[in-house]
Amino acid sequence: VRIAVLISGGGTNLQALIDAVETRDIKGKIALVISNKRDAYGLVRAEKHGIETMVLEKETYGFRERRDAALLEILQEKKIDLIVLAGYLAILPSIIINAFPNRVMNIHPSLIPSFCGNGYYGEKVHEEALKRGIKVTGATVHFVNEVTDGGPIILQETVEVDFEDDVKSLQEKVLEAEHKILPLAVKLFAEEKLEVVGNRVKIEEVKK
Ligand code: GRF
Repeated sequence: VRIAVLISGGGTNLQALIDAVETRDIKGKIALVISNKRDAYGLVRAEKHGIETMVLEKETYGFRERRDAALLEILQEKKIDLIVLAGYLAILPSIIINAFPNRVMNIHPSLIPSFCGNGYYGEKVHEEALKRGIKVTGATVHFVNEVTDGGPIILQETVEVDFEDDVKSLQEKVLEAEHKILPLAVKLFAEEKLEVVGNRVKIEEVKK
């Protein structure tokens, strides 16, 4: 399976995917890494592993529609099977979502449907979770549809919240969970073990 990973920042989730591909845990290839930020360190991670990278900043394309069309064209030209949003802090245009039904995955740093939707990304998620005093948070991998963070949930992993936790410590704990479930979701996709039934995902049990 040919994967495109979209990033905006440090790319630790991208790194987890790169590692899982290189150990052949994921039977696939990261064919392209696209960032909407020129200075995203994730681009360096990709280049270190010989993965083709692209920067798609809104500014260079002027009109959003032109950039979106360019993005779709590149993804089709590269014969991408699965798009993974890994710390991608922009809304994916609907023409892409419609061209890749249940073939776009996103990782979110909370247990959806808590602390998600417009405006909930990165540290804001953890700030709100701490403010609410929750005892358990976590990470979610889901398929992307036109509703922000609203697509079918693939995997979730819980994280205990300690009273002493602050945004930084909580983000680190949640990132550890993200680095486990995102590669696992991609692995299951590559092995065709994911079946979307309505707005739910059925995972074929690993054969004993
Ligand atoms: C982190 O806040 C993570 O929870 C979310 O995106 C941000 C950056 O992740 N998924 P990464 O290190 O760039 O993968």
